[in-house]
Formats: sequence, C-alpha cells, structure tokens
Amino acid sequence: QTGHTALDYGFVNTAATKSAITFIDGDAGILRYRGYPIEQLAKNSTYLEVAWLLIYGELPTSSQLEEFDNNIRRHTLLHEDLKRFFSALPHTAHPMSVLSSAVSALSTYYENQSDPHNPEHVELNTIRMLAKLPVIAAYAHKKSKGQAFLYPDNSLSFVDNFLKLNFGVLSEPYEVNPVMSRALERLLILHEDHEQNASTSTVRLVGSTGANQFSSISAGISALYGPLHGGANEAVLDMLRQIRESGESVQRFVERVKSKEDGVKLMGFGHRVYKNYDPRARLVKESADEVLTELGVSDPLLDLAKELEEIALHDDYFVERRLYPNVDFYTGVIYKAMGFPTRMFTVLFAIGRLPGWLAQWREAVSDPQTKIGRPQQLYIGAPRRDYPGAV
Ligand code: SDX
Repeated sequence: QTGHTALDYGFVNTAATKSAITFIDGDAGILRYRGYPIEQLAKNSTYLEVAWLLIYGELPTSSQLEEFDNNIRRHTLLHEDLKRFFSALPHTAHPMSVLSSAVSALSTYYENQSDPHNPEHVELNTIRMLAKLPVIAAYAHKKSKGQAFLYPDNSLSFVDNFLKLNFGVLSEPYEVNPVMSRALERLLILHEDHEQNASTSTVRLVGSTGANQFSSISAGISALYGPLHGGANEAVLDMLRQIRESGESVQRFVERVKSKEDGVKLMGFGHRVYKNYDPRARLVKESADEVLTELGVSDPLLDLAKELEEIALHDDYFVERRLYPNVDFYTGVIYKAMGFPTRMFTVLFAIGRLPGWLAQWREAVSDPQTKIGRPQQLYIGAPRRDYPGAV
C-alpha cells in the first residue's frame, strides 16, 4: 500500500520480466491495472477505456476514448477473401483453433505494414486487432452453428456489436439485452491483463524475435487454449456437467480429486500466483447470481459450483495447498446463461485478454533492453560419450 514497488526492496530476481502494466499480490489477492484496483475498473469502466489504460498507461480523455472507439469501428470489416478462409475449416473445428489460425491468416493482408518498429504500423495494427478479433470470434461461433456471418454494425458499442454478431440472424432484427451487455463488459475487463501468465509470456517471447503483432497474438491464443490456462473455463463446465450427469456426489468427486485418481483436478481452482482468493473470481461469483437472476435463468450447475467451492474451502487438502477458485471457476456459468456454447468460453477469454497482450507486446518491443527470449536451461542429460566405433 506504500506505493513502493518490488524493485525498491531489491529482492526481485533480475531475470524477471520488468513491466509497468499490471501488479499482482498473490498472497493478498490484489490485482491492479496501471495502479487502478480491478474492483473499481470492473464496476466503473469499459473494455475499451481499460484497453487504452493498459496500452498507453493513463486513462483516456473523453475525446481520446471517442477517437479510439471510432477508429476501431472503422476497422471491423474483414477482407472478403478472409471470410472464405473459414470455409476451408470443418464446422466441427474448435473455435480456439479457428481463432489462432484466422489471426495468423489476418497477418498476410498487412505484411507490408507490420514493421514492429514503425510506430504507425504498430498503432494501426493494434486498432485492427482490437476491431477484428471479435468479428473473427463471432464467425467461428457462427461457423460452428452453420449460420450465416453477419456484417459488423458500427452503430453499436464494442460489446453490443459483438453480441449481435454472435446472436443476431439475417432473418430478424436483434435487440441487445442490456443485462448481457453489462455483464459481458465486466467479464471482459476482468480478463484484460494478468502480468506474465503463460499466454502473455508467449506473446512477449514471440514479439522479442521481431515477429509482428498478428503472429505474436496468434501464438498467445494457442497458449491460452490449454486446459490448465484459459481452456480451464471450458473444462470447469465439462467437469460440472460430468458430475451432474454421472450422479456422483460432490463429496465423492472431491475425494477422487484428493486421491489424484486418474489425474482428475478441480478445474477452476488453484493458481501459480494467487495463494488466496483470486479477486476476479470474487467479482465473477457476485455477478453470476445477479446476471442469472436478471436473465431469469436458474442453473443447477451454479449451485453445484457453489457446493464444490464450499467443500473445498473447508477441506485441508485444498487449504494446505492454498487452492482457491480462480477467474475460470464461475465465468462459464455466466457465458452459458448468455447463450454461448462451452467451446466459445476460451474465445471470450481471448477477447478479454487481447488488450493486455497488445500492451505487453508493445512494452517489450519498444524496450531497447529487450533481448530475444531464451529461457535458461539446467542440463540434466547424459555426460559426454563416444559414438560406437567413432575414431
Ligand atoms: C488461468 O497465470 C495466470 O495468471 C493465469 C490466469 C490468467 O489470468 O492468465 O490467471 C488464468 O490460467 C487460471 C488457472 C486456470 N487453470 C485451472 O483452473 C486448471 C486447474 N488448476 C491447476 O492445474 C493448477 O492449480 C494451476 C496449473 C493453475 C497452478 O498450478 P501450480 O500453482 O503450479 O500448482 P501445482 O501444479 O504445483 O500444484 C500444487 C499442488 C499439487 O499437489 P501435490 O503434488 O503438492 O500433492 O496442488 C495440487 C497439485 O496436485 N493442485 C490441485 C489443483 N491445482 C493444484 N489439485 C486439485 N485440483 C487443482 N485444480
């Protein structure tokens, strides 16, 4: 609370990545974007205002935010050829696979405008990524349902345009539900950055080689896909469904987790950094009740999640290992209530995390101290030996 940073205390591992973007205190359950507490941003700000804050370091003036928003609206269209890219993929393709490959394909349209050290290219491609990722995500969703792609509606806000692209159909008008809009805005803000997590470290590492923003973001999407990382929000819903459909008691499932039977984990629990309640999980859990009530949805999986949490928080196995709900534990129940299929949950995480990836990529690429990423290795292999018959 003194405003000092770890550097002031001199105990930071010098190999650690230095960043001014996000601060986490895992023991105290604190998360701040550029010094602002996540609780205040989630309740008072918007996805694009927080994106500006993460990228540029300060809250935007109203004219800056308006220009940022308008710029993004003007770049939402995908090249018509790129829309045909989706038809090359099977309709059964996982939306996260579609997302990472489509973003990589996106980079082929801007190869002569992707110099990471050209400020104009960096600004333009930051806008292009923010504008087009939600459209690509919605097209992945529509493709999985065999429905026609809609064109973006630039008269709508970022979140409302995204909801319409996902749930609107050509044959009838679409009215954005303000409850869904507000809930999705808050969830996206909660995901916007999280220091040096696996996918962000991937984006920084790929960026450190001189690769462009699109290729770096595509790599981050691939890292996020894993069930131990962003894929956990999808895995939580699969876990809750499996418990409910199998008729297995929650207590029995918890016993199987504790005995590590066939590697089963309590998905949505535990964290590399938070050894206390993830502050985002607390905010998501608050929203879950509110959103489901306002949407008039009751979901036994939410009650099941709460029962699981209640048992785990009072069980020595989890307490001793300091395992608490993380951001992924309750988000899926809200996304499901909004009508998103489970396989879109990690795609929503990716849209949330995009501003953080962009901000961290720009911070790394613009820092003259940044060297090409090369994690250290401790060799534990065979000692020197001769090839049979070698002279
Ligand atoms: C995200 O880094 C980030 O910031 C990520 C993220 C972000 O915003 O970018 O916050 C998003 O990825 C959240 C995490 C989502 N993943 C899950 O919910 C998957 C389930 N969680 C676990 O896989 C695990 O908790 C990790 C991977 C998240 C963290 O693992 P750690 O800190 O490396 O802990 P560990 O694997 O060393 O486990 C320590 C002990 C082990 O038991 P013992 O060997 O000591 O007996 O805790 C156990 C583990 O078996 N354990 C779990 C568990 N997580 C850890 N046991 C049951 N269920 C779990 N979920």
